[in-house]
Amino acid sequence: MKLTAFSAGRPGGNSEIYLKEALMAAEAKGVEVELIRLTDCDLHNCRDCSPNFCLAQTDVTKCPYGKDDCAWLVEKFLDSDGYIIAAPVFSLTPSSLLVTFRDRVFGPKMDVASADLGMPEPEFVKGRFKARPGGLISVGGALTEHWTSLGIPTLYTTTFSAQTEIVDHMNVFGVADRFAATLNEKWLQRAHALGEHVADAMLTGDHSWRGDTDRVCPTCHLDMLMLKPGTNEVTCPICGISGTISVKDGVAVVDWPDSEENRAQNRQLIDGKKTHLKEIFYCRATYYEPYEAEAKEKAKKYESYKACVLTPPSRQKK
Ligand SMILES: Cc1cc2nc3c(=O)[nH]c(=O)nc-3n(C[C@H](O)[C@H](O)[C@H](O)COP(=O)(O)O)c2cc1C
Repeated sequence: MKLTAFSAGRPGGNSEIYLKEALMAAEAKGVEVELIRLTDCDLHNCRDCSPNFCLAQTDVTKCPYGKDDCAWLVEKFLDSDGYIIAAPVFSLTPSSLLVTFRDRVFGPKMDVASADLGMPEPEFVKGRFKARPGGLISVGGALTEHWTSLGIPTLYTTTFSAQTEIVDHMNVFGVADRFAATLNEKWLQRAHALGEHVADAMLTGDHSWRGDTDRVCPTCHLDMLMLKPGTNEVTCPICGISGTISVKDGVAVVDWPDSEENRAQNRQLIDGKKTHLKEIFYCRATYYEPYEAEAKEKAKKYESYKACVLTPPSRQKK
């Protein structure tokens, strides 16, 4: 059983300290652990190599950036039995390195639901698609929690396609300066517990939630809601399920029906991912393919309007 951790923070910084506390706890439970510093990796942004959609879909080394560390990171993830990721908060969200990691390593090529819709499993996966338990750690320096609001929700977006089943997440705030993480015993203990929770889930095969129980959404255990204006209908923007909100004894309460529709929309479930893939196929077949020639013709107007596009210094001929 191997637990692989990824840090998008400073080498030796706060995210890494919490990750190492979690890994020490997991190792004591008997799982093998390893830590990858994304700052050490050569990793370029996904450039959405349309019209071929993703050149890495069947062979991860075919990515236009095939020579960077993406293929190695994909291998490390597929070889793992559990996953923890930690990232610092930069302007409310995790740092851009985390988003680059998500877009290059995960996304459609790692979508475990694709095989159910008749798409061949890529050669590089070699039968290693499986549900893994995971943990998320977000670290912000601000004392007010709302300055870290999109940390865990964005970290969550790394988990959907490859079916990483989050068993715990922790949102640290008020830890800013390098090594400050060592001074706050409460957060260190919380990271220790998170490491134990992920290890227990790996060792028992029981991927049920082990984190804080006072959360609003029953499936991703976050407190974010999209409210449809003029109604009492709410949707969780992270997992996609819907419910209704009301006030009882002065307290807002959300009723989340255990319905077929919610199972079909929940992107944490295989069914939710299948719904999304079908939507993509439908959208292309209905709204694009019959009109492809027309779209190409209309695009000429925008392609030829290029006097406004600047060439950055790095691309200017010397
Ligand atoms: C560019 C930048 C933006 C930041 N924005 C936020 C922020 O919006 N909210 C917050 O709580 N902390 C913010 N911070 C503070 C970091 O999240 C904090 O220092 C964190 O402990 C760094 O983690 P690390 O040591 O793992 O890199 C920001 C830091 C930087 C460098």
